[in-house]
Amino acid sequence: MSKLLAAGAFAVLRFSSHPALAAEGETLKGLASAKGLLYGAAANYSNLRNDVQFRAAFLQQCGLLTAENELKWAVLRPSRSTFNFTPADWLVDFAQQHKLAFHGHTLAWHHSIPGWLQDVQDPAALRTILVDHITTVVGRYAGKVRSWDAVNEAVQPEDGRPDMLRNSLWLKALGPDYIDLAFRTAAAADPHALLVYNEHQIEYDTPDQAKRRAGVLRLLQRLKNNGVPVHALGVQSHLRAASNSFRPAVFRRFLSEVAGLGVRILITEMDVTDRDVQGSAAQIDSAVANTYRDYLSIALQETALTTVITWGLSNLYTWLKTESPRPDGAQSRPLPLDNNLQPTAAWKSIAGAFRQMPNRS
Ligand code: G3I
Repeated sequence: MSKLLAAGAFAVLRFSSHPALAAEGETLKGLASAKGLLYGAAANYSNLRNDVQFRAAFLQQCGLLTAENELKWAVLRPSRSTFNFTPADWLVDFAQQHKLAFHGHTLAWHHSIPGWLQDVQDPAALRTILVDHITTVVGRYAGKVRSWDAVNEAVQPEDGRPDMLRNSLWLKALGPDYIDLAFRTAAAADPHALLVYNEHQIEYDTPDQAKRRAGVLRLLQRLKNNGVPVHALGVQSHLRAASNSFRPAVFRRFLSEVAGLGVRILITEMDVTDRDVQGSAAQIDSAVANTYRDYLSIALQETALTTVITWGLSNLYTWLKTESPRPDGAQSRPLPLDNNLQPTAAWKSIAGAFRQMPNRS
């Protein structure tokens, strides 16, 4: 038995002996799979590798793993001629060993790209680099990665283009067809992977988000019309506990329209920031939990939605701590497990939504 497996088994024993979870006897992955839904979370290499208790909690709660950063160009591509596969290989191997589905994030994005890539000016060279990258990365993990965010955050109506696409490095060099190219190249490298168009800020009823939703529908329709292998929409779902802009009817209609195009839907990056909520820890937890409940109870009515991924599992490890901290310096509390890996009020909301949702076929 490998050192990793031995450590993991020990951790499961220790963790499952904790009264709070042992008594409950329910896990998010179990509640989800009872209805035909896949639940999982993003994690990063160093936390899963080094924190044995966290690893055990992850395996207890999750049926899917996605790499928070390790498959981004900024990590994977130190230079044009080199790949740094070590952390991504570890994560994909970990998922294989523990029979977790793996969601790959992400192949074409305007953000988190290395400096050397930003310096490439020649469109033909950029095209070659994009195709080689996707062919190499998707090919390396073919059969091990269930789904890929093939293209991420390509719609940006504020950029003023009639097609509402983002004026990214890829678009400037290759035109809108870079999106088609990314999907087609990924499909050629792994014909069995579920290919996802992933988008942020499409959950709320604000003018900007309404425009982005329209841009996403337009893009998906164009891709489908052109026979591009786009199989699902990823709705990131980074939510705000302090927001009052969620309109159930508007969001529900959007999901129906997406499903009507013949694509599946994944919630790919859900968390709920509490950065603008005041009050006691219990009041903050309650606001976060209510946001999960209100959102998921609507989203999960759509049976084309078959996967829910949270952007992290424990409040111990959340990007919000460093990238969007609370102004008062208190710790963020956006996720289903607390710092001690015990279920939060948000966990209970997610569990409740899973119990009540209709069966997926
Ligand atoms: O790895 C370096 C480390 O060496 C260095 O010491 C440190 C100094 O700040 O930075 C580290 O890199 C950071 C990396 O996270 C790992 O912690 C980057 O600066 C930081 O920009 C990066 O942030 C990530 C961000 O995407 C940008 O890639 C967040 O962790 C990650 O949660 C976030 O995830 C995005 C999704 O990919 C797309 N949707 C939105 C979501 C939230 O922003």
